Amino acid sequence: MSASTLEETVASHETPGNQFYTPFTVTAELEAEADERISHYPASKRSATLPLLHIIQHKFGYISAPAIEWVAAKLEIEPIKVLEVVTFYPGFRQSAPGKFHIRVCRTLSCAMGGSYELMERLCELTGIDRSASDSHHHPISVSPCGKFSVEFAECLASCGSAPVCMVNDDFHEGIPAGKAEELLAKYAPQV
Ligand code: FES
Repeated sequence: MSASTLEETVASHETPGNQFYTPFTVTAELEAEADERISHYPASKRSATLPLLHIIQHKFGYISAPAIEWVAAKLEIEPIKVLEVVTFYPGFRQSAPGKFHIRVCRTLSCAMGGSYELMERLCELTGIDRSASDSHHHPISVSPCGKFSVEFAECLASCGSAPVCMVNDDFHEGIPAGKAEELLAKYAPQV
């Protein structure tokens, strides 16, 4: 797979969230962290694919085409093998989220508890337009200011306290649409 084909295939596109993330850059720190993770898999370097992608998403916010190429070179595998992993796991993002990324559970208990109404209210308050999103290539929708993004998620394992959502790594239980404003105010009081 050539570099240009990879660029075209990865669903990375500029979003207002890009302002909060550094473009993928290979630093000595990243090299050292990656080498340390790879050392855990002496029999098969490619087993470090998931750990390396997690490191990159944590540092840069999403997985870009240059990041995929770098991981493939580190693991001595074809970029398509890395791309397969990125596109298989919904947890890996291919474009920049907002500074605060909100994942709203849409599985049965949460759907019945009002998660779709919660999503609608979050979008209304943040000015997010979800019309161009789809569950596979573009699951994330970002606010015009770049501070917030939303995405539907499958069961977040707290069905008894539906509807639930996550804001970055924070878990929030029992958040009906009526509490959306209060939730956003915790992260960006001016919204
Ligand atoms: S259905 Fe939402 S946490 Fe399980």
